[in-house]
Amino acid sequence: MFATKITDRAELRPLEPWQAAEFLAHVDKARANIEPYIPWAELITDEEQARNFLQRYAQRQTNDEGRIYGIWLDGELVGGLLFRTFEVRWGSCEIGVWLAAHAEGHGLITRSAQHLIDWALGTRGLTRVEWRCVPTNTRSIAIAQRLGVTLEGTLRQTFPYHGEIHDLQVWSLLHPEWTQRSWK
Ligand SMILES: CC(C)(COP(=O)(O)OP(=O)(O)OC[C@H]1O[C@@H](n2cnc3c(N)ncnc32)[C@H](O)[C@@H]1OP(=O)(O)O)[C@@H](O)C(=O)NCCC(=O)NCCS
Repeated sequence: MFATKITDRAELRPLEPWQAAEFLAHVDKARANIEPYIPWAELITDEEQARNFLQRYAQRQTNDEGRIYGIWLDGELVGGLLFRTFEVRWGSCEIGVWLAAHAEGHGLITRSAQHLIDWALGTRGLTRVEWRCVPTNTRSIAIAQRLGVTLEGTLRQTFPYHGEIHDLQVWSLLHPEWTQRSWK
């Protein structure tokens, strides 16, 4: 109902607990692509887990502490974005993203992230959007670069996952930089 057109074929919409079955089917299809980087992908294995995950985000939205959105391509849920953190008091938020493999390569995430950034820094007046990724995630880094986000540094051995403790790059876009954005 409340949808933003991303391309002729794709829409960005809120992703809500009533869509748990659709979300599970999507995660099952996308799991191989996203699980190497996204811990929740291996936890969502049934409809109850999918609903719990979406309910946690619904609660975070109620508290103005996080939000989750899906991307539908030709009517199929193929990925999404979330405000993993949303700290109004500190003026800061972090965006996370994912896509099924067959939806990669069309700019769906780059374009959707522009909407989320505009809302966070423009509508909500936050001062800082963060983007975090492991240094080997070249597709994620390419999005940050396309968005004009600046690499601030690397948190060393901060992300334990799959038996390894990974480094995490921290990228950010500040409000004055956003006013100079390329996608106005
Ligand atoms: C990270 C991830 C979302 C990136 O997906 P993606 O398809 O590369 O990103 P986008 O949707 O922004 O698309 C960019 C691609 O579309 C192309 N493109 C086409 N039109 C475009 C447009 N208008 N704007 C931007 N890019 C466009 C770009 O050239 C790029 O193509 P390439 O793959 O040949 O480099 C995806 O690889 C993924 O889900 N990975 C696993 C989970 C993950 O790592 N999440 C992030 C954790 S930090």
